[in-house]
Amino acid sequence: MNNIILIGFMGVGKGSVAREIVKNSSYIAIDTDDLIESIENKKIKKIFEDDGETHFRNLEKNIALWLEKSVSDTLISTGGGFYKQKNLKSIGTVVLLDSPFDDILNRIKAHPNAEKKLKKRPLLGDLKKAKELYDERRPEYLALADIVVNVTNKSAINCSKEILKKVENNV
Ligand code: S3P
Repeated sequence: MNNIILIGFMGVGKGSVAREIVKNSSYIAIDTDDLIESIENKKIKKIFEDDGETHFRNLEKNIALWLEKSVSDTLISTGGGFYKQKNLKSIGTVVLLDSPFDDILNRIKAHPNAEKKLKKRPLLGDLKKAKELYDERRPEYLALADIVVNVTNKSAINCSKEILKKVENNV
């Protein structure tokens, strides 16, 4: 199916990297959170508030099944918890954007829309809990990834070039 599937923790820059990949290749990009928001006609934060995380994870599961069945030659960026979907590896080449927790936080804080970026992510509200989630997930991200790209102190454009090169060479 030749999809590239970008995984990684909240705020690591999956969206920015996806946009650069689109500029530098013939890939069309889709984002699992955007799909969920448009299907539900609600922001992720509101889905968590109104319907709960379990409902959100079920929506992710439906998206994962659809991606496997129906999508090819596409760059798919995902929410930070999407990697838990059992069929992830059947969707495409899994690329992890990897960075230490503190660097992710600094990256978000340095953004002109930092407050908005923190607010829209229900699981980033409590930074102690977010760090625990990061520590729990990081080994799982690494275990799943076909390709790991360390994004710390790298521009989105350089990350995008590295990803395209690695996918092409299958490393
Ligand atoms: C989540 C990450 C979010 C979004 C939701 C849950 C997670 O996406 O899917 O808030 O479980 O890590 P981003 O990784 O784009 O912030």
